[in-house]
Amino acid sequence: MKTSFGPQKILFPLPTSLVVTGNMDKANIVTIAWVSLLTSNPPTLGISVGTKGFSGKEILKNKEFSVNIAGVDIMKEADFCGISSGKDVDKFAKTGLTKMPSKYIKSPIIKECPLNFECKLVSSSVVGTTNHFAGEILELYMDTDKLNDPDNPRSLDIELFNPLIYIGGAREYRKIGEKVGDSYQIGKSLL
Ligand SMILES: Cc1cc2nc3c(=O)[nH]c(=O)nc-3n(C[C@H](O)[C@H](O)[C@H](O)COP(=O)(O)O)c2cc1C
Repeated sequence: MKTSFGPQKILFPLPTSLVVTGNMDKANIVTIAWVSLLTSNPPTLGISVGTKGFSGKEILKNKEFSVNIAGVDIMKEADFCGISSGKDVDKFAKTGLTKMPSKYIKSPIIKECPLNFECKLVSSSVVGTTNHFAGEILELYMDTDKLNDPDNPRSLDIELFNPLIYIGGAREYRKIGEKVGDSYQIGKSLL
């Protein structure tokens, strides 16, 4: 049996992402799970950020941000950045996470996150109390110790990365499971 529950915001799995605004002197980290690749050319990443919070206003002001994908090893720090505000606390100082300078934007990236994007704000809109920000990906960094081939970002070993997965609805963190198939391949048996 299927039961209807009305409009609800339950979706999973989501990547626990740490979005950084500001500059090397003064930067803030906000935990954002509502994140997705939006377009291929130019490559853009979309994030949904509340209109009332500190980070939404910072992104509108600075027109840039970095997106850093967290691993299970920094779960406590990632959660903290989602329950505290840059208005009140220096989240880099409190968590001990490390700022690294970006190439094209003032906002730093986070050293402890194995995957990082530098983004320039190219579009923003508001639906209800949420900003939809599209950031053009100007640069991508990956830790080479998480790659099977250090020259190929697609050779990522997802088990070594061990991304921190957020389950919206249940509000819990999980880790990745085992591989079950090859995409763009397994369906070919039905062609
Ligand atoms: C796991 C997790 C995921 C979150 N995802 C989002 C999100 O996608 N969008 C959002 O606006 N807030 C999200 N939040 C809440 C913000 O991180 C939170 O409001 C934060 O305190 C805002 O920080 P700031 O005031 O420094 O901007 C999330 C929090 C947690 C713990």
